[in-house]
Amino acid sequence: MKKLVVLTGAGVSAESGISTFRDSNGLWENYNVADVATIEGWWRNRALVLEFYNQRRGELATKKPNDAHKMIAALEKDFDVTVVTQNIDNLHEQGGSTKVVHLHGEATKVRPEDADQDEHTIDVGYKPVNLGDTDRRGVQLRPNIVWFGEAVPKFETAARIASEADIMLIVGTSLQVYPAASLVQYVRPGTPIYLIDPKPVSVPIPGVTQITDVATRGMKRFIEEVIKEKNM
Ligand code: APR
Repeated sequence: MKKLVVLTGAGVSAESGISTFRDSNGLWENYNVADVATIEGWWRNRALVLEFYNQRRGELATKKPNDAHKMIAALEKDFDVTVVTQNIDNLHEQGGSTKVVHLHGEATKVRPEDADQDEHTIDVGYKPVNLGDTDRRGVQLRPNIVWFGEAVPKFETAARIASEADIMLIVGTSLQVYPAASLVQYVRPGTPIYLIDPKPVSVPIPGVTQITDVATRGMKRFIEEVIKEKNM
């Protein structure tokens, strides 16, 4: 089976009703990144950061995967698919994808604030976590999210997956955040790269074919116009 790596961002979940970050009325227009998505922000006001992620987590309880998540999952019939997502939602898993790498962490998981990313994580589902909620040692729990300025421990795994891919598909990301955006540079020369996004995206390498459409329609077109027509 050919290896297909699917790199996704907030846009793949937009049609499920989850806000993107940098579109108009996106999350970063309504919140200050430095306050809610940096380690400095955490030490300044932990209650505020916890509340921001309580909202993200709570919102997820009501959201369902859309046809784009489902079509990506269905590609597993014909391809060895790995999804590398920047998203902290669980809609790829709910949509049926079995191999999902969460580069920036997961909304439903927390960890003691003295632990490294992905270590000693606790699955809290959609429940809120507040100041005073601790592990057994009494250490405050924090979101298991990769904030700006923090290391991205899953990047190496993602880069290896990209370097082994036969096809790369990018869906719904502005490619403005590194190192995630640099994953396109890890594919082997000559590997076809497709990108689905309704807006023009500036990609750090040439030769990427953009399907200018929203994720659900774009995925349908990818399957019809690329997979079927090009017999991939
Ligand atoms: N279908 C597909 N793409 C869409 C849709 C849609 N329905 N709606 C919007 N988009 C596109 C936008 O055009 C944009 O290119 O999704 C992209 C979203 O970009 P961002 O808001 O920058 O989100 P993302 O690229 O995922 O952000 C990366 O930034 O703040 C951090 O950690 C956060 O993981 C996030 C990272």
